[in-house]
Amino acid sequence: MQTYHIAVLKGDGIGPEIVEQAMKALKQAGQKFGFAIEFQEALLGGCAIDQTGVPLPQETVDICKAADSTLLGAVGGPKWDSQPGSNRPEKGLLGIRSALGLFANLRPAIIFPELRSASPLKEEIIGDNLNVLIVRELTGGIYFGERGRCTENGVEAAYDTEKYSVPEIERIVRVAFQMAMKRSKKLCSVDKANVLESSRLWRATVERLSNDYPEVAVSHLYVDNCAMQLVRNPKQFDVIVTSNMFGDILSDEASMISGSIGMLASASLSAGKSGLYEPIHGSAPDIAGTGKANPLATILSGAMMLRYSLDQPEAADAVETAVSAALKKGRTCDIAAQNLPVLNCTEMGDLVCSLI
Ligand code: IPM
Ligand code: MG
Repeated sequence: MQTYHIAVLKGDGIGPEIVEQAMKALKQAGQKFGFAIEFQEALLGGCAIDQTGVPLPQETVDICKAADSTLLGAVGGPKWDSQPGSNRPEKGLLGIRSALGLFANLRPAIIFPELRSASPLKEEIIGDNLNVLIVRELTGGIYFGERGRCTENGVEAAYDTEKYSVPEIERIVRVAFQMAMKRSKKLCSVDKANVLESSRLWRATVERLSNDYPEVAVSHLYVDNCAMQLVRNPKQFDVIVTSNMFGDILSDEASMISGSIGMLASASLSAGKSGLYEPIHGSAPDIAGTGKANPLATILSGAMMLRYSLDQPEAADAVETAVSAALKKGRTCDIAAQNLPVLNCTEMGDLVCSLI
């Protein structure tokens, strides 16, 4: 029997409880479709700081590199807010993205028909099948550019730098074109080319590469306009490609349109096959341990892993169908519905498993 080795980074806050549910769902999918999964846990984020002093121990990088793929919960929390910027839990997350070369972050914003009424937008604006894919550059730009503190004329100042090279732009834009080819052949590139030089290079690169994908209709939007268009008429979008920071912001906005930030999965991919899969939400320390966390985004991240890294598309479909079916039977409190029982995190995980 095929056995997959999966590195598991549960992280902090609600991380452990949501990841447990996704591990159960992956095991269940394996049982149904005839493969085995072995998990190996490693430390990342605040829990790693507590146990080793640093947010990303080398051992974690080694375990992830040796695995077929990596599943991640979430990192961070108030406990580590006093850490210096260079040793915060988030630094561990950026470090693992960089160490694994995960330059392409796919963040689908999908609306489950069952959750249409949970969206803050009017039903006629979101329509029936909202499905926007945000392709976010993940290992460059201002997140990784030169930064620092300085004193200028006796005044304290700080700076961060947005910088992109042509090869960095090309590889992420090609991923987006390939995604667009598999979908509705529409690609919107988002930048701030009216102000930023790095955006002008980004836009010119997209224009040049579009010659290689003549079937794809390419448009460009400034990020402020895109933020507005996402709530005015989200149906106009199919694939959006953008820089690290713009993608961070727009993907939170797009997730809310779909009802709850607790529903959205993500895949972070490198040039190779393995990848890292995580919900797009954070560690929600305020509800950790209360059972209120919604595990569906993490379970759906497991489905993306089955599809993109493990070549098990049928198992991926089965997990996604089970999530849809579960939404008709019960809800975690973030998406509670009047006529359905409120489930805690473990109960929701069990329900999905029973439907796989
Ligand atoms: C995300 C998060 C991270 C990011 C934080 C936790 C560093 O917001 O994955 O979107 O900004 O990339
Ligand atoms: Mg974010």
